[in-house]
Amino acid sequence: MNRQARRTQMAAEFMRLYGGEPTLWTRAPGRVDLMGSHTDYNDGFILTMTIDRDTWIAARPRDDGRIRLHSLNVQGGGEFDLAQIEFNRRARWTNYMAGVVKIMQAAGYTVRGFDALVHTTVPVASGLSSSAALEMAAARLVEQLSGQTIDPVTLARLGQRAENQFVGVNCGILDQYTSAVGRAGCALLLDARHLTSQDIPLAAGLQVVIGDTRAPRNLAGTEYDERRTQCEEGVRLIRTVAPGVAALRDVSVAEFEQYVGLLPDLVARRCRFIVEENARVQAMAQALPAGDCAALHRLFADSYTGACELYELCVPSMDAMLAAMRSAPGFIAGRQARRLWRLPGGAGGGGADRRLCQPCGATLSAGDGGDAGHLRRLSHRRRKCS
Ligand code: GLA
Repeated sequence: MNRQARRTQMAAEFMRLYGGEPTLWTRAPGRVDLMGSHTDYNDGFILTMTIDRDTWIAARPRDDGRIRLHSLNVQGGGEFDLAQIEFNRRARWTNYMAGVVKIMQAAGYTVRGFDALVHTTVPVASGLSSSAALEMAAARLVEQLSGQTIDPVTLARLGQRAENQFVGVNCGILDQYTSAVGRAGCALLLDARHLTSQDIPLAAGLQVVIGDTRAPRNLAGTEYDERRTQCEEGVRLIRTVAPGVAALRDVSVAEFEQYVGLLPDLVARRCRFIVEENARVQAMAQALPAGDCAALHRLFADSYTGACELYELCVPSMDAMLAAMRSAPGFIAGRQARRLWRLPGGAGGGGADRRLCQPCGATLSAGDGGDAGHLRRLSHRRRKCS
């Protein structure tokens, strides 16, 4: 669906639901990390970028302090008063918006009532940050309604707070930051401690292709928290000999070898992955604009091995997808998803798989094997990175 058709369809549905035209439109993109899995909550570095799938909100202000929410993607909406915002167990997607409104209200922004209709093209529960896209589109809506200008990093922090405190997911800043700050066609080198970033252009001809394994995932209250705790435990033990270490970000690969004897085996494996992944992000930030395919191949391969063997993020469907992609024309490198999920009866690792292909337009079809029926292609075409 092109932009105009999407807008027309949303406006028509808005009219049907609420009567009248929407007067405000906001949008925010999904995202994918190219390198730097689980480094954000370790104060580390990530190479991340927005994707060409996004979430739109069409809205109109109300004067009675009420908020009404509907979506073109899913049945069931929400309606509540600004003075009484509570978690909605029936239409869970509405909590990402309600949480943002509540957090921004608590932070002192002028918040008004509104009617809103949401539409997203970000695949839900695929590790492509559909939640953050919704939060950031909602935050921009509240910003517009308030008449104030809020800088993107502040919007990202408010969105993260909404997800942590209202939705109940203990995520880092990566998803919201990328959605709020990222620009099409350009990767970001994010410093999660200082909340700063630098644009990293992709060398001409490089294309990021994301395949979604469609394996089920649920971030809240799962292995994600366990990994965070294991990293924190590693830092606690390292600090007994190196009190200057505040997070794994402060430990180089060489220094880690001096400390590793202090750590129980499982904690050591988790921490090693993060320390090495941080170093890979820095190397990737050089290789990507240079189009150094050999380096990209090696970095992705090492990241995937570490994610599987040290951080235990991988599942068989990811292997199958990677194997299929390796035989695709133009394939340069592939690696794992960024998230953890819970599979019935045990832990798993997850979501989307991404790989770099060259030249643009390298084909990957649903018939490429592995999870053939479920394989999805999201191509991120190189655009001007200004
Ligand atoms: C989820 C979280 C992010 C980040 C990634 C893993 O997407 O929301 O903050 O921790 O997992 O890299």
